[in-house]
Amino acid sequence: MSDPLSITDRDRLIALLATAQQGANRVIDERAMCESLTSRVRGQDHVIADVARLIRLEWGKQQRSKPIASLLFLGPTGTGKTELAKALATYLFQDERNLLRFDCSEFSGPEGKTRLIGSPTGYVGADQGGQLTRRVLNNPRQIILFDEIEKAWPGIFDLFLSMLGDGRLTEQGSGKVADFTQSIVVLTSNAEHEAIARIQDQISDPHELRNAVKSHLRDSKVFRPELIGRFDAVYVFKPLEPLVKAEVVAIKMQLLAKEYGLELCHVAPELICEALMKSEKLKDFGVRELINVVRDLLGSGFIEAKNAGARKIRVDVAANGDLEIQPA
Ligand SMILES: Nc1ncnc2c1ncn2[C@@H]1O[C@H](COP(=O)(O)OP(=O)(O)O)[C@@H](O)[C@H]1O
Ligand SMILES: [Mg+2]
Repeated sequence: MSDPLSITDRDRLIALLATAQQGANRVIDERAMCESLTSRVRGQDHVIADVARLIRLEWGKQQRSKPIASLLFLGPTGTGKTELAKALATYLFQDERNLLRFDCSEFSGPEGKTRLIGSPTGYVGADQGGQLTRRVLNNPRQIILFDEIEKAWPGIFDLFLSMLGDGRLTEQGSGKVADFTQSIVVLTSNAEHEAIARIQDQISDPHELRNAVKSHLRDSKVFRPELIGRFDAVYVFKPLEPLVKAEVVAIKMQLLAKEYGLELCHVAPELICEALMKSEKLKDFGVRELINVVRDLLGSGFIEAKNAGARKIRVDVAANGDLEIQPA
């Protein structure tokens, strides 16, 4: 019989098994986890501290009949909800690729269900399985992210109930059962974010706030009450304050340098302000546009520095406004 896996696939499988093993044995150091997550997601320490606490407690259990955690991230767009899911995949499952992301705006009709859990026997594609079930059958240890869930067709919520409540989903066609008890499910939504922000202004106690937010979601009928009951925790992300935005700019600059094989040791604050102002002008894009602004500002300079043999660099602004990129 010929080998069903190519050499590359076999290598991937071995790597996957190795990292899964590593993950299985690991005890979570809550402080290290918070440090790692906050190095990537700024200004949401209240969320990160509680997420780390909750995951550490659940991670330590030997038996579970539900996902390790089912987390609902609420708040305005561009505040770090998706970024935190990615940071969790990197920290807990060693690689950002262990994040399975679904954009719920692509699941606005009944066909979304077959995309997720496969076509019934006898239908076209029944042997291929579902995009959700097949991936979890192949690798149960990952972050599963459903972005902007309020945009999903309501029938999809039945799948969520089963996935979050029983920790399993049966694939149509194959009848195989995907097990979610080794996964973390993150759902994001910016529904009702203005009303939620008002509630957030009025209530400072985190528990009270969460209850009030859940009640609001229930009353506004955005989600069915039984779905709200399935979330282990609901978190409200704050709009980014100016200083936090500046930190995000600095992170993006460091990441860009890294992509060019450089280490950025210092950036002049006025350059950070410039990048911030440029991206703020593009109102619709906000923080998302930052990556392009930063690349346009620094990309050429980084290439020159790299070609000149630099490794560690600093970026200053000369008296005439020109950029100065020098070895650090
Ligand atoms: N709090 C934050 N900390 C660090 N980066 C952030 C933060 N908020 C947004 N970003 C950056 O902005 C971009 C969009 O953020 P994202 O997490 O996708 O927003 P959303 O809350 O809409 O999911 C990403 O490139 C991310 O790196
Ligand atoms: Mg998002």
